[in-house]
Amino acid sequence: MTILVTGGAGFIGSHISVELLNAGYNLMIVDNFSNSNPEVLRRIQKITGKSFEIHQIDLLNEKDLERVFIENRIEAVIHLAGLKAVGESVVEPLKYYRTNINSTINLCKLMKKYHVRKLVFSSSATVYGMPDKVPIAEDFPLKAMNPYGRTKLMIEEILQDIYISDKQWSISILRYFNPIGAHESGLIGDNPNGIPNNLMPFITKVAIGELKELKVFGQHYPTIDGTGVRDYIHVIDLAKGHVAALDKVLKTNSINTYNLGTGQGYSVLEIITAFESITGIKIPFQLSEPRLGDIAICYADSSKAKMELGWEAEKGIIEMCRDAWRWQRKNPNGYQDNKLISNSRIRDSGLMNMESTEEVEKNVVDEKTYT
Ligand code: WQD
Repeated sequence: MTILVTGGAGFIGSHISVELLNAGYNLMIVDNFSNSNPEVLRRIQKITGKSFEIHQIDLLNEKDLERVFIENRIEAVIHLAGLKAVGESVVEPLKYYRTNINSTINLCKLMKKYHVRKLVFSSSATVYGMPDKVPIAEDFPLKAMNPYGRTKLMIEEILQDIYISDKQWSISILRYFNPIGAHESGLIGDNPNGIPNNLMPFITKVAIGELKELKVFGQHYPTIDGTGVRDYIHVIDLAKGHVAALDKVLKTNSINTYNLGTGQGYSVLEIITAFESITGIKIPFQLSEPRLGDIAICYADSSKAKMELGWEAEKGIIEMCRDAWRWQRKNPNGYQDNKLISNSRIRDSGLMNMESTEEVEKNVVDEKTYT
């Protein structure tokens, strides 16, 4: 029984891959490495001691993707691959619509053709837009406020229509709140390209001295201290939520939507204080204007996931800060430092028992010969 994870080499995808392997599933990762580093594959193998299949494929390339369905018996798909930067989506909406929507349509077309009708989809709390009240429940009004959020909302609607057209499908739509933290080994974590957009990776870069100070976006929100409040959830809890949702889609034919959050909101200043208390490192910050498109307060009512999936977040803000810092401290330049593969890519090479560097090197071809 093979589970296909699209985007399985990314921040959230790599943690889901670890949890799936730990749960005894056969894993196949499809990733184009546009926003991830092949080094993470070795780290996943190192953490779990398990082997898995990796295919370097862009979901927009339907022919390459179809080969995966022809050559393997896939039981279910966890679909994470896509672009996810809110700010970038405002500047380049067509890139977001084409990438996120078209790749999902390619995937679902092939799933239908090869009778794979079990799907867990990575959505986002951003589909709620500016909520009228908190905590946010799944039946709240949906009003995405940026192209990235609108792609997630459109895909949710596409999945609803697919289910209505064929009740043999079994779909779980998971709306993430704010995933932070890292695996306790410090081997995998959030590895954003360039200057981080998100709060926690920005804080950890300030803590290692790569960035000078944190700009706190907004200081007059109607919150405990005027700064933005979010529902931060440990990425391991989020990953376990996917395993719980997968268990459900494997057993039922239905479509369900679940919030994956802790139900606890923390302000930016509270996160800074928690991080400083855990690490003993002062985080210099400057209170500044709100960020365009930001909302004041957002946190989840995740009682539906608890009731129907038997899942709830277990890790608190201290563990989130501690684990995020351990990852950054051990990997000051993310995966770049120990990058096994420089200027080359992993060939679509099937099963990789990445016992050693040599094994990985053997599967590496230079960019020029790859295509
Ligand atoms: C959190 C808080 C900022 C950076 C985004 C996406 C969402 C989801 C999670 C994909 C806010 C403040 C941040 C900084 C700051 N991604 N902040 N200084 O915006 O809640 O959600 O990531 O699904 O779709 O929108 O997360 O981490 O960017 O911000 O003050 O340098 O930290 O204003 O209050 P956000 P974030």
